[in-house]
Amino acid sequence: ELKNNTVIVVLGASGDLAKKKTFPALFGLYRNNFLPNNVKIVGYARTNMDHQEYLKRVRSYIKTPTQDIEKQLDEFCGFCSYVSGQYDQDESFINLRKHVEELEAGREETNRVFYMALPPSVFITVSQHLKRNCYPEKGIARIIVEKPFGKDLPSSRQLQRALAPDWNEDEIYRIDHYLGKEMVKNILILRFGNEMIGATWNKNHIDNVQISFKEPFGTEGRGGYFDEFGIIRDVMQNHLLQVLTLLTMERPISFSAEDIRDEKVRVLRAMPAIEPRNVIIGQYGKSLDGTKPGYKEDDTVPKDSRCPTFASMVAYIRNERWEGVPFILKAGKALNEQKTEIRIQYKDVTSGIFKEIPRNELVIRVQPNESVYLKMNSKLPGLSMQTVVTELDLTYRRRFSDLKIPEAYESLILDALKGDHSNFVRDDELDASWRIFTPLLHYLDDNKEIIPMEYPYGSRGPAILDDFTASFGYKFSDAS
Ligand code: BG6
Repeated sequence: ELKNNTVIVVLGASGDLAKKKTFPALFGLYRNNFLPNNVKIVGYARTNMDHQEYLKRVRSYIKTPTQDIEKQLDEFCGFCSYVSGQYDQDESFINLRKHVEELEAGREETNRVFYMALPPSVFITVSQHLKRNCYPEKGIARIIVEKPFGKDLPSSRQLQRALAPDWNEDEIYRIDHYLGKEMVKNILILRFGNEMIGATWNKNHIDNVQISFKEPFGTEGRGGYFDEFGIIRDVMQNHLLQVLTLLTMERPISFSAEDIRDEKVRVLRAMPAIEPRNVIIGQYGKSLDGTKPGYKEDDTVPKDSRCPTFASMVAYIRNERWEGVPFILKAGKALNEQKTEIRIQYKDVTSGIFKEIPRNELVIRVQPNESVYLKMNSKLPGLSMQTVVTELDLTYRRRFSDLKIPEAYESLILDALKGDHSNFVRDDELDASWRIFTPLLHYLDDNKEIIPMEYPYGSRGPAILDDFTASFGYKFSDAS
C-alpha cells in the first residue's frame, strides 16, 4: 500500500548515489504516476545552497531530452526542497524536522521515509539523529540504507547492533540493487512457474552453474573507495550471492517477504565458507595498446595495492538438491565487455547413439539486452542426421518490445514506499552472507604474499581463467 502524504528525505542529496540513482528513480516513478499523492521530497546535505540553486542541481541529475519531460520536471521540482546541515549535530536535524513539519502542516498522519545516500562513516550518527530528532509521532517511519554494510562479519554485526536500538527490522530497507533488476526478479518465476525447469533443477541434471559479472571500465575516479573493498566485497558478497541465493533456494511457501527471506536464509546457511583453494584473483594492468591505465596508476590507489579487481571462486551447497554442484562466481572490472549472466550447464546426455553432443545450457542474461535462452541440440535440416546446437530464445527486446523495463532503483524505491520487504536484505540474511565470505577475505587480507594475477585492461581476465572454470566441470563448446 502506498501511503499518501509521505515525505521522502534524501540524505546525501548532493552525492553520487543521489545524483546517479536516487533522483532519476524518483523522477521515473513520478512520471509513471507511482509516487504517493501529496508526496514531498526533501534533500539534505552539507552544502549550502538556496532553493533555486538546488532545483537546478536536481534538474541536472535528470536527463531531459524532450519538452514533454521538461513540463513534468517542473512539476516534480514543485515538491522538492532542500535543507543543508551537518551530519552530527542536533541543531541541524532539529532544523530538518522543522522543515518537514512545515511541509506536513495540516496532515493527520506524518509518513516519513529516509533515504540514506551516505558514506558509511556517517551512517550510524545520522540514523541516531534521525531517530532522536526526526522520528514521526504518527504514521510510518522507514529508513532505506545501502552497502557497504561493514567489511566482514564482525564489522557488519557491529553496524547492525548500532542501528538496532533505534530502528526495528521492519523499518529498515537494506538495498541490494541487483534485487530490483528485472531478470533477477524473474528467477523465481522461471524456476517455480515452469515445471520443465523446476523438475530438472537439481544435482541430477545440472552439472555446474556460472554467474558472471563483467564491466568494461576500471575504477577510475573511485579508486579510493574501491581499494578498501575490492571486487569480492563490492559485487560478489552482495549482488552475485543474491543471484545465487535466488537460483538455489527452495520453493517459498508464498511470495510474501518473510516466506521468501526465510528460504533465502536457509540456503545460505547450507553454504560452507568459500575455500581459498577454490579462488583466483586478478588485478588489471595497462591495456595492451597502452591507452588505458592500470589499476595502480590511479592516484588514489597505493602503489603496492594487492586489491583484487577480478575474482573467480566456487561455492557449494550442502543439501540434498545441490550436493557436489559447483557454483562458479566470476566478477571483474576493466574487462572486454559489459555483461551479467547466469549460465546453467546441464549434464551430458547418455552417450551411445551420439559420438559427442554438446550439453544443454540455460542462459539468463541479466544485462545488457535482457534475455533467457536455452541451447539445445537439434537435427540440422537436410538429408543427413547431423546435429546442430540451436537456441530457444526469449530476447526481451524482441518479445516485449513495447514494454519498458524499469530501473532497479525505481522498482526498489516503490517497494519501500509500499512497505514490501521481499526484495530487501534481512539482518539474518546479511549475517549469513558475510559468514560465507569472511574467512576468505581475512585470508586474502592477511597473507601479504598473495598477489593478484595481472590481466590487461580490456581483456577477458587472468590467463588462467578458462582452465580454472574447466577444472570445475564446465565444458566449453564452440557455440558458447
Ligand atoms: C555497485 C558497485 O554496487 O554495482 C559498482 O559498487 C558496480 O562497482 C555496480 O559498478 C554495478 O551495477 P550495475 O547496475 O551497473 O550492474
